[in-house]
Amino acid sequence: MPDDTLHVLGFAGSLRRASYNRGLLRAAVETASADVVVTTFDLSSIPPYCMDLEAGGGPEPVRELKTAVAAADALLIATPEHNYSFPGVLKNALDWVSRPANSSPFIGKPVAIMGASSGRFGTARAQVALRPVLASLDMLVMSKPELFVTQAEKVCDEDGSVVDQATRERIYDVIRALAAWARQLRAG
Ligand SMILES: Cc1cc2nc3c(=O)[nH]c(=O)nc-3n(C[C@H](O)[C@H](O)[C@H](O)COP(=O)(O)O)c2cc1C
Repeated sequence: MPDDTLHVLGFAGSLRRASYNRGLLRAAVETASADVVVTTFDLSSIPPYCMDLEAGGGPEPVRELKTAVAAADALLIATPEHNYSFPGVLKNALDWVSRPANSSPFIGKPVAIMGASSGRFGTARAQVALRPVLASLDMLVMSKPELFVTQAEKVCDEDGSVVDQATRERIYDVIRALAAWARQLRAG
């Protein structure tokens, strides 16, 4: 019998230990259904992009990230909002994996976006900025459900873990929709 497990790779645009966005990813890992496996990649090991380092696939952490992206059926990005956009940490990782442009593992990959901020807009501006960048990399960006977690300190504990049940259910809804869509795409 074919393995129907759907593999989702998540990464967050924050390196902060108690990051709300890393907390969203942890909740995704915990709430995914039995036939969906969510694993995460910590972007703290990814060096600043430099074309001089690209030869041979780039530094080892970059090669590991590319391998993880290639192996995943779908991606899940949790982004903070920094100065009305998504953080450089995330853009840097996208830049590395986007190369070489004609054989990037991003091409054709379904991806969902979610985000949490302490503000009132829940990373809406960051997500609006991120969508066209992902589309330009030939990724397939899921349009709905969207997830903007506002005033994240009210739904997360001091470690950034999501403790609010309604928010956890919304995270589950995102993964469920992403998995269903990725399965459709996989089936052709
Ligand atoms: C450099 C910087 C810029 C920020 N700019 C914004 C912003 O434009 N909009 C917003 O809602 N929050 C902004 N914030 C607040 C972040 O959304 C908040 O720190 C959030 O908790 C970061 O995500 P994390 O908890 O995953 O680290 C900014 C924070 C930093 C450090």
